[in-house]
Amino acid sequence: MSKENIWQGNTTFILAASGSAVGLGNIWKFPYMVGSNGGSAFVLVYLICILLIGLPVMASEVLIGKYGRKSPINSLKDISLKFNISFAWKYLGVLGALAGILILSYYSVFAGMAFSYIFNLFPSGLENPSSYSTNYFSDFSSSPMKLIFWHTIFLLATCFIVGLGVVKGIGRSVNLLMPFLFLFIILVSIYSGITGDINKTLIFLFNPDFSALTPQVIVSAMGQAFFSLSIGMGAIMAYGAYMPEKQLIGKTVLTIILLDTLVALAAGIAIFPIVFSNPSLSVNAGPGLIFETLPVAFYSLPYGKIFSIIFFTLISIAALSSAISLLEPFTAWMEEQKKLARKNIVLILGMLIWVVGLGSIFSFNIWTEKRILGFNFLEAIDYITNNIMLPMGGFFIALLVGWLIPYEFIRENVKFSNFQFRIFYFSLRYISTSAIILIFLYSVF
Ligand code: PHE
Repeated sequence: MSKENIWQGNTTFILAASGSAVGLGNIWKFPYMVGSNGGSAFVLVYLICILLIGLPVMASEVLIGKYGRKSPINSLKDISLKFNISFAWKYLGVLGALAGILILSYYSVFAGMAFSYIFNLFPSGLENPSSYSTNYFSDFSSSPMKLIFWHTIFLLATCFIVGLGVVKGIGRSVNLLMPFLFLFIILVSIYSGITGDINKTLIFLFNPDFSALTPQVIVSAMGQAFFSLSIGMGAIMAYGAYMPEKQLIGKTVLTIILLDTLVALAAGIAIFPIVFSNPSLSVNAGPGLIFETLPVAFYSLPYGKIFSIIFFTLISIAALSSAISLLEPFTAWMEEQKKLARKNIVLILGMLIWVVGLGSIFSFNIWTEKRILGFNFLEAIDYITNNIMLPMGGFFIALLVGWLIPYEFIRENVKFSNFQFRIFYFSLRYISTSAIILIFLYSVF
């Protein structure tokens, strides 16, 4: 890799990786999953998964990417050849790159919806804002054309940035976008804390209620930890390839994980108080929480319109900076084949993703009845990627780095302090591998 293709300074890598991590997973999925999984019990398990599984797997991904300085597929190949381990490990990269394409196909549909909500301003003087909101959302989701329109716009923006390349496209856009993201989430949380019911929110999020702790909650919390940290499919590994040589992996990964977790909690603090402040609304609305429930809450609050615009802009930015990282692993790999220019690769992948995305769009309307093993198309892709591909990817990464790559190499390159390294290495070898297997087996059988 040429020198100009490495990000300069420590911040770009942090912004890019936290841009990847912070996305719909934090602002849309985390709050509704907390809402539907009993609140604090879910939060607690989620935080444990982040620390004991997420952190070691993320550090391992960065380590491989930074060592290889290539796409995840070829970095995995290089590192395994270096230590005389089978080159077949590169297929782990192939699995991840495919997962990225599949996730992006539906991610773009929801991101497009969120983007369109920036312009969804309720008319004033509504007698029943709740039914207006429900009708609006059901009209929107039952119209394939509307969904296709916004899906296309969002995917075009994603392909455009990735097509510009790693430094000019991804590097520049995260430097531009991420400060707004952090500013907006702080603004909305403060607004919500002032206008909404913050006490009820804090109890809901942080007062552990262990009776709500079911095996299902644990499975969902682990899946969410993988998804939210963007681990298990090579997004962070792909970015690791552009990390400056001197940047310390341990400290950087801790920063990214902290940022991701803070934004998820801030999203809870931004959303729940205003939902709680309106007694007719419920927090366990599921995926419709931000599209149906939240607009009604904004409607009845002072400056609600402005904050609704800020909120949906915030989600769109977060989604865009994640979407580019879903596309990068496959793009980088195809670019290394040197047959096609980056722009053309992105165009081809973009079209493919667009077509797969239609399946998710139709799951809302013309294909609602079509089922594969009881799942509709969207649920099937979501299940296969989040509950199978990401945890499997994470397991094999932990296996490779924890058990097959020599200890000295990892010790030297991860650069944690002694104490941190001991915890990291222990969780990588024993806790993350066994926890993923146990939870995985439970969720499958
Ligand atoms: N972490 C992103 C989010 O929270 C989603 C994502 C998953 C991005 C996997 C890249 C890889 O929305």
